[in-house]
Amino acid sequence: MSEVDEQVNEAMREVEQVLFRSLEGSTVLEDMGTHLIESGGKRIRPELLIASYLAGGGKDVSETYKVAAAFELIHTASLIHDDITDDPTLRRRRPAPHRRYGLSRALVAGDYIFAKSFELLAGASEEVSRAIAEAAVSTAEGEHIELLLSFDTNVTREQHIDIMRKKTACIFAAAAKVGGIMAGMDPEDLVAVESFAENIGLAFQVTDDVLDLEPSAALTGKPSGMDLREGRMNAVIYIALERLEGKDRDTVIRVFMASSPSTKDVENALTLVRGTGAGGIAIIEAQRYMDNAMEALGDRFDTAIRAHLEAMALEIIRRRS
Ligand code: FPP
Ligand code: MG
Repeated sequence: MSEVDEQVNEAMREVEQVLFRSLEGSTVLEDMGTHLIESGGKRIRPELLIASYLAGGGKDVSETYKVAAAFELIHTASLIHDDITDDPTLRRRRPAPHRRYGLSRALVAGDYIFAKSFELLAGASEEVSRAIAEAAVSTAEGEHIELLLSFDTNVTREQHIDIMRKKTACIFAAAAKVGGIMAGMDPEDLVAVESFAENIGLAFQVTDDVLDLEPSAALTGKPSGMDLREGRMNAVIYIALERLEGKDRDTVIRVFMASSPSTKDVENALTLVRGTGAGGIAIIEAQRYMDNAMEALGDRFDTAIRAHLEAMALEIIRRRS
């Protein structure tokens, strides 16, 4: 483990404390806060922020803890609300919050956690606040466009990439940008870390779509086939629809467009999707985003920082949950 890895790990332990403290003792959340924060999560966004801060030569990493934790709160809030729209039974191996606590409480909990992130951001500079606000707006926009285009099999590749960029990659890019801004990174390096993070965000979403094909929730901690069941276009379904023909294509489209398809129909359609090899093609796509990410870094920054960022990117495309 390099000195940079150790510095990042140490900072992440501190961020974890800030995160727990920010939701501790909340009368709104009660045990829901612990349920959500303890159930893990990969903490990729705070880690990106911290790695970017160190890449920019930031001298006092403790100044990033609150802002890094705010990113995780925004992400957590967005997942609670996303689960309300997608209605999976599980999230991170536990009952999805709206299933366990009811829809109204989960809705308000998401709002509350989102609001709590503002508290952590109270001391942030205007530039930092603006970057985070823009990313949060983009996340909501991406989610909204995805919802508007639900059940639509004519979504274009450009529309689909735009959704992934807005709902997932923008907040990754913002985390890296904010770390860089806080470290006083020069503008060209800032563009490089932002592009790195945006590309690993895209790789993350494509990998998420591949994991949605998994036959069981045992690995991912969430039910499989949700996108197909809910009529949401994803990278794998998009590729599968390009490759399917005739009756099989009609079957998949019928399930995709159905408002509540039976489990048997979803399983049948998933088998057809798997049979196209779309999962493997999507993995290559994720790999391409990862290559773009490394290319964006070029030979900038310290070797150990680059190695840390590369390890993060690899973890994203190799993850099983
Ligand atoms: C997960 O996607 C969800 C998102 C990436 C974004 C969700 C955004 C909102 C609900 C808008 C609210 C925004 C804020 C800032 C509070 P997915 O459904 O593809 O992934 P999954 O398989 O993990 O559910
Ligand atoms: Mg979802």
